[in-house]
Amino acid sequence: MNKFSLPRQTRTVDEITGSRRLRRMRKADWSRRLVQENHLTVDDLIWPLFLTDGENRREEIAAMPGVFRLSVDLAVKEAERAARLGIPAVATFPQVDLSLKDDAGSEILNSDNLINRATRAIKAAVPEIGIITDGALDPFTSHGHDGILRDGIIVNDETVEQVAAAAVLQAAAGSDIIAPSDMMDGRIGAIRDALDAAGFQDVAIMSYATKFASAFYGPYREAIGTQGLLKGDKKTYYIDHANSDEAIRETEQDLSEGADMIMVKPGLPYLDIIRRLKDEFQMPTFAYQVSGEYAMIMAAAQNGWIDGDKAMMESLLAFKRAGCDGILTYFAPKVAEMLKG
Ligand code: PBG
Repeated sequence: MNKFSLPRQTRTVDEITGSRRLRRMRKADWSRRLVQENHLTVDDLIWPLFLTDGENRREEIAAMPGVFRLSVDLAVKEAERAARLGIPAVATFPQVDLSLKDDAGSEILNSDNLINRATRAIKAAVPEIGIITDGALDPFTSHGHDGILRDGIIVNDETVEQVAAAAVLQAAAGSDIIAPSDMMDGRIGAIRDALDAAGFQDVAIMSYATKFASAFYGPYREAIGTQGLLKGDKKTYYIDHANSDEAIRETEQDLSEGADMIMVKPGLPYLDIIRRLKDEFQMPTFAYQVSGEYAMIMAAAQNGWIDGDKAMMESLLAFKRAGCDGILTYFAPKVAEMLKG
């Protein structure tokens, strides 16, 4: 049938491989388990929780099936569940009422704002779980940007001052880790100084060291209600997603300013960055598997196009392989349950 006469293989496979056969170790489940290099455990998980006002409220987020905005009382219940599952920490993100938003995001300086109320309630009920709070203005600004907006410009230094003051309030409410996600220059050092001056030497800083300008944050903006507000994009402060060396410079800067942990965000499209940072700095390194990554897996699974549970596990193990010490993921409770068996 074949009109070409194919050249015969002249060497045996053993001659080609020098008798090395990598499939030997793959032949059975027990041998695969024996040589498995990376493992995902519940200790690797950080669970991001969305907060909303009110009581006994659990609101669906259309683009994030299975993820809900929770009133503080229900967020406490979920934190209790997280602790029972062995999840080390939760990270909170507030949907702030429109009436509380302004150009400067001043509600972030309210010691009784939604983030701080939730922190106090979770700390009181579940003191054994770590609480990570977001030190960015975007949930609080009327324009959805992460900084103070003046004449079309995100004003760096004033934003830093405000974020540092907010960090002190978050620490006072009981936050264990301040995680500024705004990418302003100098924020890590300013937050460290402010925390230390207020006596919060033991509160850590997880720097969103390399946060890229990305399309994968889409569903998050629905979750915290900023999608209709945001004008323009965040390219003047997040890193250009074409860049890799810049991620090294940014991380080096944040570490020199006092960051205790570093994060790469988004996650899966940036595994190369995670590996570079881990190799370069050997610091506790985290990835944020963001809302769009979650949405993609869930949407494909709901269509029957992929096995959602397997894709979830594979994506999380990929972070470990790339060098992560942990992952912020909306899948956290589900994974923790699966890992429990
Ligand atoms: C902004 C912030 C973002 C996320 C968390 N905090 C991105 C943005 O709105 O630009 C994204 C989280 C996600 O997509 O899951 N400070």
